Amino acid sequence: MTAFDSLEFRRTLGRFATGVCIAATVDADDHPVGMTINSFGSLSLEPPLILWSIGNGSSLRPAFEKHGYFSINVLRVDQVALSNTFAMSPGDRFAGLDWTAGLGGVPLLNDCLARFQCAVERVLPGGDHQLILGRVVALETFDGEPLLFYAGGYRRIGDSAGGW
Ligand SMILES: Cc1cc2nc3c(=O)[nH]c(=O)nc-3n(C[C@H](O)[C@H](O)[C@H](O)COP(=O)(O)O)c2cc1C
Repeated sequence: MTAFDSLEFRRTLGRFATGVCIAATVDADDHPVGMTINSFGSLSLEPPLILWSIGNGSSLRPAFEKHGYFSINVLRVDQVALSNTFAMSPGDRFAGLDWTAGLGGVPLLNDCLARFQCAVERVLPGGDHQLILGRVVALETFDGEPLLFYAGGYRRIGDSAGGW
């Protein structure tokens, strides 16, 4: 038994500010698929590993687990609409978007702050999510300001900051 409820857990986790990314891969029909995530993190420098988690109930879980490659596309502050599309849209989330096929054909957003191409290193069970470890095989950075997620909402650097 825990001494806190799930709402308190979520609210407290929300005090950790993150960036916002789109994780993308290719499904069994060779279609580009992707979803908004903020569980992205660094894991290891040598070898270069990153991690993120996918909900067990996500429709994209089979694609990410089976394809073998995925991309992580870090969003800019002006890409809230894109983040919402990849978190909520039931249809083709890549429709009308400018993207390039990377390793294994995985979609790379041409408009973003940074992108990582990764090979699936391991998938580990973690409660109601699966932890996906990726070996980074290519990376790029571009100019711009990051989109942040904090306390359940989108933020930009400098929001309600008193300076430090
Ligand atoms: C800011 C933000 C961060 C999110 N982070 C994650 C995440 O790390 N892992 C996850 O499984 N879902 C995350 N989601 C939810 C997914 O984007 C959402 O459930 C998406 O619709 C999943 O695709 P599906 O509906 O095809 O399963 C996040 C949503 C938002 C708005």
